[in-house]
Amino acid sequence: MITVAAERELRHAVAKWRGRGERIGFVPTMGALHAGHLSLVELARKHASRVVVSVFVNPTQFGPGEDFARYPRDLEGDSAKLAAAGCDLLFLPEADTIYPPGSTTRVRVEGPSRGFEGECRPGHFEGVATVVAALFGLVRPDVAVFGEKDAQQLALVRALVRDLHLAIEIVAGPIVREEDGLAMSSRNVYLGPQERRAATVLQRSLAAARAAIEAGERDPARLVDRLAAQIAAEPLAHLEYAAVVAADTFRPVERIAGEVVIPVAARFGSTRLLDNARLRVD
Ligand code: PAJ
Repeated sequence: MITVAAERELRHAVAKWRGRGERIGFVPTMGALHAGHLSLVELARKHASRVVVSVFVNPTQFGPGEDFARYPRDLEGDSAKLAAAGCDLLFLPEADTIYPPGSTTRVRVEGPSRGFEGECRPGHFEGVATVVAALFGLVRPDVAVFGEKDAQQLALVRALVRDLHLAIEIVAGPIVREEDGLAMSSRNVYLGPQERRAATVLQRSLAAARAAIEAGERDPARLVDRLAAQIAAEPLAHLEYAAVVAADTFRPVERIAGEVVIPVAARFGSTRLLDNARLRVD
C-alpha cells in the first residue's frame, strides 16, 4: 500500500494503473476505521483491480458546535487496517488540496438532502456533496463504494452522480453491526457504558418494524408510531426522527411499497446516532 497526500502523486499513481487497463475502486472515509469501513474496502476489491481509500475529516460537513475538533483520529491504526484489508493507495489530503485557496464552489443536491439529516444538520449535505465531488475529481474512480449505514448520504451521492453525468458506478455495502446489533460508527466511542447499552434500542425497534412490514403492515404512520414508542420507552434515548421513505428520493411514502428505508436518528446523552432498515416490499 502506498500513502500519498499530494494531488500530483495521487494522479500519477492512478494514471499508471489506468494506463495498464486497471479498474479503479474508491472508498471515501473520515478515518477512525472500523469493520464497517473495512467491509467497503473488501467490496471495492470485488468490483475493481485497484482500491483507493481516502481519510479526510471534512470540515465543511460539520456545523458550528459539532464534533469536528474532537472527531476521533487514528492514522496509524487506520493505515495498518487498510494495508491488511487490501487497500492499494491511502490518500491523506490536506484541507488545501481538497479546497484550493480561493475555492468558492459548493455542491447542493436538492432532493435527497431535504429533511432528516439535512434538517437536523443545516449545511451538512452541502459539505458532503462538495467533498465527494472534489474527491471524485481527484481520484476519478470507475466505481465508488458507500455504506447503507448513511442511507440519506447514499441517496444523495447516487443523485449527484446521475445529475452531473459522472461515469462512476456507485456500489452500496450493507450495515455492519456489533454483536449486540448496534450499527458500527466512529462515534460509538463517545458513548458511556449505560448509553452504549441503551443504544441497542435502535436496532431492536428497526427489527420490530421490519417484522411488522413482513407481517403485512403497510401504513407508515402506524409503523412509525410504534417505532417511536419503543424508542421512547428507553429513558436514555431521545428520538430526533423516524420515518418511512423511498430509498432513492428520501421522500416519506404514503403507503409502504417498493424499495423503502426506515431512517432513525436519536441522541444518547450528547451523542447522535443513526440507523436504518432497508426493505423491498412488493
Ligand atoms: P464516514 O462516516 O467515515 O463513513 C465512510 C463510509 O463508511 C460511508 O460510506 C459510511 O456509510 C460507511 N459506514 C460507516 N459505518 C458503517 C457500517 N457500520 N457499516 C457499513 N458501512 C459503514 O460518510 C462519511 O465518512 C463522510 O460523509 C464521507 C462520505 C467520507 C465524506 O466526507
